[in-house]
Amino acid sequence: MTKPLLFQPITLGDVELKNRILMSPMTRARCPERIPTDSVVTYYAQRAGAGMIVTEATTVSQQGDGSISTPGIYTPQQVAGWQRVTAAVHERGGRIACQLWHTGRVSHASFQPGGGAPVSASDVAGEVVTFTTNGFEPTTPPRALALEEIPDVVQQFADAAQNAMAAGFDAVEIHCGSGYLLDQFLRDGTNRRTDAYGGSIENRCRFALQVVDAVVQAIGAGRTGIRISPMLETWDCSDSDPVPLFTHFVRELSRRELAFLDLIERNDAPMAVSDDIDADSNEAGVAAIRAAFSGNYIANGSYSREGAEEALQSGYAVAVSFGRDYLSNPDLAERLAAGAALNAPAEAVDYYGDGGDKGYIDFPALGESAAE
Ligand SMILES: Cc1cc2nc3c(=O)[nH]c(=O)nc-3n(C[C@H](O)[C@H](O)[C@H](O)COP(=O)(O)O)c2cc1C
Repeated sequence: MTKPLLFQPITLGDVELKNRILMSPMTRARCPERIPTDSVVTYYAQRAGAGMIVTEATTVSQQGDGSISTPGIYTPQQVAGWQRVTAAVHERGGRIACQLWHTGRVSHASFQPGGGAPVSASDVAGEVVTFTTNGFEPTTPPRALALEEIPDVVQQFADAAQNAMAAGFDAVEIHCGSGYLLDQFLRDGTNRRTDAYGGSIENRCRFALQVVDAVVQAIGAGRTGIRISPMLETWDCSDSDPVPLFTHFVRELSRRELAFLDLIERNDAPMAVSDDIDADSNEAGVAAIRAAFSGNYIANGSYSREGAEEALQSGYAVAVSFGRDYLSNPDLAERLAAGAALNAPAEAVDYYGDGGDKGYIDFPALGESAAE
């Protein structure tokens, strides 16, 4: 019998993966100084069996910060911290991409330069909370980015991509989903602009595509991936008609021949801050958007080993990204290959944790016993 496709190598752009299993980006809030710690190095090293890890969302600037203890990639200290992570993953034969993040309005004045308002496409406040030093707090109402500020924000992504290369990452994944800044520009619920960045679908896609083009210019299309969550409404970020918007967007992405498109197809995580629009229109919308994309498509959202293999065999996806299963199974790829049972799921309370190692780096690999 031939080896299942899931465990066969694949090349995404310039990056060679030993299998078609990706570890999904997952915020873990274990970086109190916004710099990866020893525990973060251990966490990612434990998961190097994935064909490629995509890191937790990592901010491109202080303006992009939106909650406590999330890492950045905009200072030399952060780059040095990530160098330790990428070296540990590479030593174990893994590949690792950095997820580049700007939270936009999902932020709080206490994180912003000078304590100012967070920025967004428009000054539309959402029903959104974020985790600050005082626990969950409502976000600070945003201000609209001025036209002349936009090139600087685009540049933040290009600089961060270059920093990611300096830190030894194999690729970057632009976070264009989940209701953060790029998504806030794409969707008409949050983008009320009347200039070249608002109104028509083409105009609302302009900012995100400028970010993509700037990152490609900085590090090459073969090392640039992107993530979207088109049919989800996350952090109160909605669009009146997402299918035409995102089919246009992914057609534009196809022309750019990026390393990959990673698409969150559904979200039924216990602490989900997203809502599926409704199961049927969600699936129909995802199918239409997927069909409009030509390029390396990575499927994400509640995939099992069987569902993943079927998606690969049918040509629907070239790789599959696993999120929650990677929280409690550091050796998920090895377990899937062995057909072994998975550990009990991580407790939702440890998803973000209190900065500690519990529920973070204490899950056993096959053949190990649980940490005391
Ligand atoms: C604790 C946690 C943190 C997450 N953080 C991020 C993130 O930083 N960036 C992102 O794009 N998605 C994030 N997600 C979404 C996951 O990457 C993934 O899309 C989602 O869990 C669905 O995949 P799954 O069904 O395999 O878990 C997070 C999910 C969880 C459970």
